[in-house]
Amino acid sequence: MLALLESIRPGDPDRELALALDPERLPSHIAIIMDGNGRWARQRSLPRAAGHKAGVDPVRMSVECCAQMRLRALTLYAFSVENWKRPRAEVETLWRLLRFYLHRELPLLQENNIRLNALGRIDALPGIVRDDLEECCLRTSRNTGMNLNLAINYGGRAELVDAFNRILDRARLDGTLGRLTIDEETISNSLYTRGMPDPDLLIRTSGEMRVSNFLLWQIAYAELYVTDTLWPDFRRSHLLRAILDYQKRDRRFGGLTGSPEAAEERLVEVAGVPEA
Ligand code: FPP
Repeated sequence: MLALLESIRPGDPDRELALALDPERLPSHIAIIMDGNGRWARQRSLPRAAGHKAGVDPVRMSVECCAQMRLRALTLYAFSVENWKRPRAEVETLWRLLRFYLHRELPLLQENNIRLNALGRIDALPGIVRDDLEECCLRTSRNTGMNLNLAINYGGRAELVDAFNRILDRARLDGTLGRLTIDEETISNSLYTRGMPDPDLLIRTSGEMRVSNFLLWQIAYAELYVTDTLWPDFRRSHLLRAILDYQKRDRRFGGLTGSPEAAEERLVEVAGVPEA
C-alpha cells in the first residue's frame, strides 16, 4: 500500500481513493476482461488496431498498481480461443502489440519482482510470439512477488478440457486409471492457474454483462464489477474505485454474514415467516 501511495503525486485525486482503501481487505487476485478497444477506436474514426494500441498503457498501469498493492495475482484476458475469428490483420496487430509489450515491460516486471505466466493453449501461437512469451516467463520465473497471468489463446472450457486430459494422462502414467476419482482439488490443481488463489474480483470494462468463457471454474465466488469505461480509457482511478466497491461487498460464499449470534437471529426471523 505504501508503494502505491508513494507513487501518487500530492494533489492527485487518486490519493483520496488510495487512502480510502482498507489495506486489510484487498483482493488477493484480480482478473480483468479488457473490453472495448474496438468501440474506443470507432468513436474516434480510427482503425480497430488503434484501439488495441491504446489498450497497452492501461495494461501497464494495472500491472504496476496491483504490484504496488502486493496482490498475489493479476490475470488479464488478452486473447481468447474465439478471437482467431477476427480478421487476420487484427490478430497480427495483437501479436505485434504483445511482443512490443513483453520487450518494453520486462525491466518493469523484474524491478517489481513480478512473475509472468501465460495461461492458454500457447503451443498454437505463432512461433515468434510463443518464443518471446516463453522467454519472458522463464526470465521472470524466479520472481517471488505478484503473478501476472496473461490469458492468451485462452478459453475457460478449453482449460477444463485440458485439465481433464491432464488428469487422465497422469492416471494412465501412474497406472491408476481404473480407480481414478476426481474431486474439486484435483481439478483446481490441474488448471493453468494451479497454485494460485481464485480471483476475488472480476472486472469487465465496456459495460458488457458477460463472462465470455473466462476463468469459468475459478470465478465461482468472484465479485463482479462492470464499468462502462472502455479499456483504453481505464485509469488508476477506475481500478481503485473497483477495489473500493469490492470492499463494500458482503462475501458470504453461500453462508451467512457476521457472528453465529447474528445468524441465529436471522433463523428466528425466518422461523416467523409462514410456509408457502
Ligand atoms: C477486447 O476489445 C480486447 C481484446 C480482444 C484484446 C486486448 C488487447 C489489448 C488490451 C492490447 C494489449 C495487450 C497486452 C497484454 C499487451 P474488443 O476488440 O473486443 O473491443 P470491442 O468489443 O469494442 O470491439
